[in-house]
Amino acid sequence: MQIYDRGRQSMLDVTIESSASGNATKIEMRSSSPTRSQHFGTMCVAPQLNSLRLLSVDNRKRTAVRQVGSRFLEIADRMKGDLGLSSVSLSCQDEGAAKFFYKAGFRFIGSGADAKNAALKHHLDHSQGALPDEIVFLGDMEKR
Ligand SMILES: CC(C)(COP(=O)(O)OP(=O)(O)OC[C@H]1O[C@@H](n2cnc3c(N)ncnc32)[C@H](O)[C@@H]1OP(=O)(O)O)[C@@H](O)C(=O)NCCC(=O)NCCS
Repeated sequence: MQIYDRGRQSMLDVTIESSASGNATKIEMRSSSPTRSQHFGTMCVAPQLNSLRLLSVDNRKRTAVRQVGSRFLEIADRMKGDLGLSSVSLSCQDEGAAKFFYKAGFRFIGSGADAKNAALKHHLDHSQGALPDEIVFLGDMEKR
């Protein structure tokens, strides 16, 4: 698996390590190089009803690398399939992260979801600077 190294402007090999804690799985992404054992990020997931719930996902080195979040979402998609679940879901707690999840195919669900999804689509299609103030882009999101 590879992510993008902003400094070198090239792809970088990474290694995935996963460990179980109760019914949750913690997945860590590290540099494959034995001499540069950097920790790029962690994702925690747990099955909940018919969904694989994303409990947390982070790129710890956002100024140095990108695509960490995208690689984690690919892993979550595969886990969803392997476990026979019907969706990947999360409670979005950051409006910047909402753009990331929306681009990856996640949509808000529940109360006010249609307005949030329409406004986020409009925002991304027109690549405007700030998100509109009148809508709070937080809450449950899902990708089927
Ligand atoms: C959200 C997060 C995991 C994304 O990881 P990442 O490795 O930076 O994301 P990627 O490089 O895979 O980005 C994929 C796309 O999403 C966009 N994106 C990522 N983070 C974004 C943000 N905060 N705001 C707007 N767009 C964002 C990228 O620009 C990219 O767009 P492109 O495909 O058009 O180039 C990372 O920003 C992070 O760790 N945030 C802090 C923790 C957090 O908020 N976690 C989610 C809790 S709900």
